[in-house]
Amino acid sequence: MDRYSQRRTQFMNAIGGGLAIVPAAVETVRNDDVQHVFRQSSDFFFLTGFEEPDAVALLDPGHDEPYVLFVRPHDPEMEVWYGKRAGVDGAKERFGADAAYPISDLDKVLRDRFRDRDTLWYPIGSSADSRVLGALSQARGMQTRTGITVPASIVDPSTILDEMRLIKTSEEIDALREACSISAEGHAEAIRFAAPGRSEHEVQSAMEYVFRASGAVREGYPSIVASGDNACILHYVENDQPLHDGDLLLIDAAAEIAYLSSDITRTFPVNGRFSDAQRAIYDVVLAAQEAVIDACKPGLPFTDMHDIAVRTLTEGMVDLGLLPEPVEDAIAYGWFREFYFHGTGHWLGMDVHDAGVYRIDGAGRPLQPGMTFTVEPGIYVARDKTVLDLANAPFDLDGERDLAYLQGASEAKRILDERKSEADVVTHEVPEQFLGIGVRIEDDLLVTSSGCENLTRGVPVDPDEIEALWEQPPTVPAIR
Ligand code: GLY
Ligand code: MN
Ligand code: MN
Repeated sequence: MDRYSQRRTQFMNAIGGGLAIVPAAVETVRNDDVQHVFRQSSDFFFLTGFEEPDAVALLDPGHDEPYVLFVRPHDPEMEVWYGKRAGVDGAKERFGADAAYPISDLDKVLRDRFRDRDTLWYPIGSSADSRVLGALSQARGMQTRTGITVPASIVDPSTILDEMRLIKTSEEIDALREACSISAEGHAEAIRFAAPGRSEHEVQSAMEYVFRASGAVREGYPSIVASGDNACILHYVENDQPLHDGDLLLIDAAAEIAYLSSDITRTFPVNGRFSDAQRAIYDVVLAAQEAVIDACKPGLPFTDMHDIAVRTLTEGMVDLGLLPEPVEDAIAYGWFREFYFHGTGHWLGMDVHDAGVYRIDGAGRPLQPGMTFTVEPGIYVARDKTVLDLANAPFDLDGERDLAYLQGASEAKRILDERKSEADVVTHEVPEQFLGIGVRIEDDLLVTSSGCENLTRGVPVDPDEIEALWEQPPTVPAIR
């Protein structure tokens, strides 16, 4: 049994008397007859190994043909333009479908398959909604007249698939390990390659060359190559600025191998030497990352990692004068969020922000062997943050999230700002030497039976080692 058929069996065992419909990703037009680069949906690929768009998988454990693929049929003219299709024959012969149909037959076959099934497992909100829900509604219309029973409930299959994807098999860990080591090598090349006078995108090209030349067919997400002030923009992807002497360069980028993505961030000086201010912030971020990594082992609640990072980062921020004392207020009142406003990590796998819940019954989910996740603390001192008005109002992240969920982000912000304006405010001046410095350090961890393994230390984090690496000549030649 190949890995896809093992997963289908496990999934079908979990859906009992229901049937599941999992759609492929949609190919979108960029212009005229040019498409955006296509990447299969992770759930669909996880179950099928099938990489074409316009496809749907049906998993129907109560049927004697339980695994059905709906695919694009052969079309000699289209195949000359856009490449070979597996077709209906290939879906059965190469991808193990018990039955296969052209995608145009979806509605008809679904009406038949809906009979006598209690539950439809289907991710509402996907591209196939109009066809799948249309077919279900037609089938329901017939049920009143014919006595046929069709699914009465629709359940999201991700409740099962997310759990299957969360704990990695040894085969998945091997692929992730490779993605991590290739990604680390690409980051090392970026450190060797960067210099004043080069540009963000030149460094990006040297790094991505290493990813691709080492076997990656794509990145796991768009590379962030952010120099100077750009490092304070979390998802900066323009990557079009020249590198200036004296600036830091923050790179968040990684390769994807066999549909598994790494996720690495390194921050280093463009000229190969950290300034005192840059190094001071860097050391705090590194200490926070080390404190989290040291604590990671089976049983640690996922949410504890953020608490550990916040404490170490806030102590450092107060030490450096970025925030006023006392540390306890800076934590309780959320002052640290002036400079650290994202989470400390996320599950990692087929998607860079991978599938799986972080809390169970409100409490942080305990780490288990086989889980993979990132640890990525940072400090971002935006250049215009010269003066802080810090409210003495208790900070409650869950409460803020609830408010944003119920009221929408902008109304929630208005309410929170109003609450803050009613509290006492401490005004604090940010030391000038730190303005415009953004640092994040991100590594990928695998939970083992007794602790965790760092998969991405093929590229150093120690500032002295980074400076020594910068001194080495790059392996990728510069074009200019
Ligand atoms: N690269 C996206 C992230 O770090 O979460
Ligand atoms: Mn990340
Ligand atoms: Mn990242």
